[in-house]
This record gives sequence, structure tokens and C-alpha cells, in this order.
Amino acid sequence: MKNPRIVLITGASSGIGLATGNYLCTLGFKVIGTSRTPSKHPNHPFPLVTMDVLNSDSIQNAINQIIAEHNCIDVLVNNAGMGMAGPVEELEMEPLDKVFDTNLKGPIRVMQFTLKQMHKQGFGKIINVASLAGDNGLPFRGVYSASKAALMRITESLRLELRHTPIQCTTLSPGSIQTPIAASRFYAPLKEESVYYQHYKSTLQDMDAHVNKGLKPVQVAIKIKKLIEAKKLKPHYSVGPFLEVVSPIIKFLLPQRMYENLIASFYNLN
Ligand SMILES: NC(=O)c1ccc[n+]([C@@H]2O[C@H](COP(=O)([O-])OP(=O)(O)OC[C@H]3O[C@@H](n4cnc5c(N)ncnc54)[C@H](OP(=O)(O)O)[C@@H]3O)[C@@H](O)[C@H]2O)c1
Repeated sequence: MKNPRIVLITGASSGIGLATGNYLCTLGFKVIGTSRTPSKHPNHPFPLVTMDVLNSDSIQNAINQIIAEHNCIDVLVNNAGMGMAGPVEELEMEPLDKVFDTNLKGPIRVMQFTLKQMHKQGFGKIINVASLAGDNGLPFRGVYSASKAALMRITESLRLELRHTPIQCTTLSPGSIQTPIAASRFYAPLKEESVYYQHYKSTLQDMDAHVNKGLKPVQVAIKIKKLIEAKKLKPHYSVGPFLEVVSPIIKFLLPQRMYENLIASFYNLN
């Protein structure tokens, strides 16, 4: 790859995307971020182009604009995403569709447009930001967990399909990271009459406490930079607080019921 490398980061107006853009800029990368509303971020530290991952035309326009200006996309960090919380039994389908559209179909759409350019260039790297929540069906976060698990499976498929090309892709699963993600998370309403009321209420408090106690987003940025520079990418990586990062290993090693009991006691569900 040449220098400076052109890195496209979706969802770069805040949180992990913003921290990653800032960090890569300081190292001399040329970063182009995206936001649905760049005008809300007038003094952004790196350029933001308009992109809504729910809308194919918006993605096509953004990619066209970047290629017209830079002639290349070396790295795509597929980071835009949103959260959702609620008991499975009480989920409404509209927000569920929006989360899957944003967290799964969105990254797929962005990859489809970007891959065309990467094939032309003869190189490229794609880093899909999944979540450690995708390794477990977390209580009251089933839709989020499922959307991120699906992104991990799709990435595995794509890796196999791209084996005969010079393009590499992977997933990076963060654990709890201190970002404003809670502000845009969709919450199913807490209903006092619900059988899930107490557990859902306490899990919501835990959820926010975990994010607040999470790693700084720059830790994810540092990991992304390592992946950009890695010679050969593995299918999956993770970054986060120690216990969260080792939880998939514990899940693999422990008997299923023992692991489930651990998660249940972690969330005070007994
Ligand atoms: N924070 C955590 O603990 C954590 C843990 C694991 C994984 N993650 C994942 O990390 C990624 C970044 O999250 P974050 O924590 O940094 O949250 P964040 O601060 O809320 O950032 C989310 C970003 O996604 C963008 N976005 C949302 N919907 C979009 C859409 N329809 N089209 C285009 N962009 C959209 C937002 O941009 P605009 O609003 O400007 O359009 C924003 O820049 C997400 O995929 C999230 O699931 C976060």
C-alpha cells in the first residue's frame, strides 16, 4: 500500500469512529469519515461526507465523491451502528428492522459499493466493527447481539469468497467502550405490569454502567491501526475490558449451563 493511506470510516461523527479518525490522522493517514448530517459537526477534525447506511443512493454518492477526490479507498472501517434494548417477548418489529438494517444490511451495502473500487485497485482491507455482544445472546439485548453475530457470520462468508483476491476483511468486536451509544439506542418501554419489569430495569442500569466503565475509544483506534498494518488478517479480533474479552473463551470451555448461570448472575437475573 502507498502512503498516505486513504481510510474510510463510517459513523465517524462520534464515539469509536471519531476516536479512530483522530488517531489515524495523527499518524499521517488520510481519513474520510461519514455522518448522516455532517452539518451538525462544523469543526470536525477530519472531513465528513454525508452517508446514511440505510440508503443505497446515499452510500453510492458518498463513495463516488471519495473516489473522485482520492481515486482510491485503501481501508474501509465499517463502524456505523446503533443499539437496541428490550425483552424479546415485547419487541416491536419496526425498531428491530431498523437495527438489523443499520447494523447488518448497512455494512453489507457499504461493502458492496466499496469492494467494486477495491477490485479495480487490486487491494483493500475491510474492518467490520461488530461487538462482543455478538458472541453471546445478552439478556434484553437480543436484537443487538443477533445483528452483530450476523455481521460476524457474513464476514466469514465474504472472507472465503475473497480468498482468490488481494482484498482482506475481518471483524473487530469491542466490549464496553465509553461512547455516547446509549443516546441513540432504541429502548423498548419499561412497563410496570410486565413480567420482565424488574430484570429489564436493573439490566438497563447495568448496561449504562458497563459502557461508562468501559475502555476509552482510543483503545479501539489503536487496535484498528494494528489491523490496518497487519500483513494477514484473522477472521475475528476483539478489544475491551479483560473479562469481556475472555468471555467467548470461557463460553467455549465451560459446560453450557454453567456458562449461562454465570451470565445470569452477572446480570442479577436469578
Ligand atoms: N460503545 C460500545 O460499548 C460498543 C461496543 C461494541 C460495539 N460497538 C459498535 O461500535 C460502533 C460505533 O459505536 P459507538 O459506540 O462509537 O456509538 P456512537 O458514538 O453512537 O456512534 C455511532 C455512529 O454511527 C453513525 N450512524 C448511526 N446510524 C447511522 C446510519 N443509519 N447511517 C450512517 N451512520 C449512522 C452515527 O453518525 P451520525 O449520527 O452522525 O449519522 C455515529 O457516528 C457501532 O457499530 C457499535 O455497535 C460499540
